[in-house]
Amino acid sequence: MTRSAKDFFAPLAVGAPAPLREIPARPSRAIHFFDPGNEKMAAKVPAMVGTVDVLLGNLEDAVKAENKERSRRGLVEIARTTDFGPTQLWTRVNSLDSPWGLDDLTTLVPEIGDKLDVVMVPKVQGAEDIHYVDRLLAQLEAKAGLDRPILVHAILETARGVANVEEICAASPRMQGLSLGPADLAADRRMKTTRVGGGHPGYLVRQDAPRVDGQAQYDAARATYQQDLWHYTIARMVDACAMHGIYPYYGPFGDIADTVGCEDQFRNAFLLGCVGAWSLHPTQVAIAHKVFSPSVEDVAHARRVIAAMGDGTGAVMIDGKMEDDASVKQCRVMVALAEELAAIDPELKKAYDAIEVPA
Ligand code: GLV
Ligand code: MG
Repeated sequence: MTRSAKDFFAPLAVGAPAPLREIPARPSRAIHFFDPGNEKMAAKVPAMVGTVDVLLGNLEDAVKAENKERSRRGLVEIARTTDFGPTQLWTRVNSLDSPWGLDDLTTLVPEIGDKLDVVMVPKVQGAEDIHYVDRLLAQLEAKAGLDRPILVHAILETARGVANVEEICAASPRMQGLSLGPADLAADRRMKTTRVGGGHPGYLVRQDAPRVDGQAQYDAARATYQQDLWHYTIARMVDACAMHGIYPYYGPFGDIADTVGCEDQFRNAFLLGCVGAWSLHPTQVAIAHKVFSPSVEDVAHARRVIAAMGDGTGAVMIDGKMEDDASVKQCRVMVALAEELAAIDPELKKAYDAIEVPA
């Protein structure tokens, strides 16, 4: 038998905080990764508070095995000594099958659990991984006397994880969201790429060969169009997350210098329904903030449609286009996001406030 639905609202350990019934829609356009064991990077963290929605202390891949403990200790130190104000603090712990994952959780929750908003768990394969973390967090929260639950974010980066994506999202009321992990996912699927996120020039479709006198000219110049390697996975993530009231994110884009390619990948994810992406370098924070904030034009249009639609039923014509119940709902999604972001971003607030909606 599966658990009763009501059980999801009871803590998994005596004295642990009650699970949340809804995951708050806190802005998280950019999740900025830093290595807390790298002194140069760590020193920059306090100055980034307030400039990025999420700061994430990374303990997993990109931290060398011999530095794992130093990074863990560094994160404890940074969390204790930094006032994060409006910025969320997340961590990415080591995977559950690694020698460090357990110590990460048993150290971080008692030491800095009151500062941690979300724990990102890598290489999640199925609901069993989330159940393990869920119970362990409840035990540790109870012991630490925490008064709010720490949320869990899973990275989708194994073939089995993708196959189980819906059950992963449903596995605990702590589930906050999912990120695409294109690098590990490519390796696990045996994809023939050697990159961290982004497209590939070989993954394309080609225009049909032109015909001359009925003969196909296969050698003629034919346009090619690069396709998106990640479309299928992101689309699955978005549906699974929307179904469970949690949030999908693009993951890392490794080619830091290719700010244009990065913006395109992030925008594809935004248009499909993602709320944010990872940032591996401060330049990517600006890209994510730009992409994952609705444009002034979109917000202006959305407000216009909402105003014209009155009670939201029926249909109206605006600039030659039909708008109805369904398009007004899309407009409400856009405006709701704009309002959430305006509440924490004064620049955006100014830009959105300046919009005039024609009568
Ligand atoms: C991220 O962790 C990735 O593997 O892409
Ligand atoms: Mg990975």
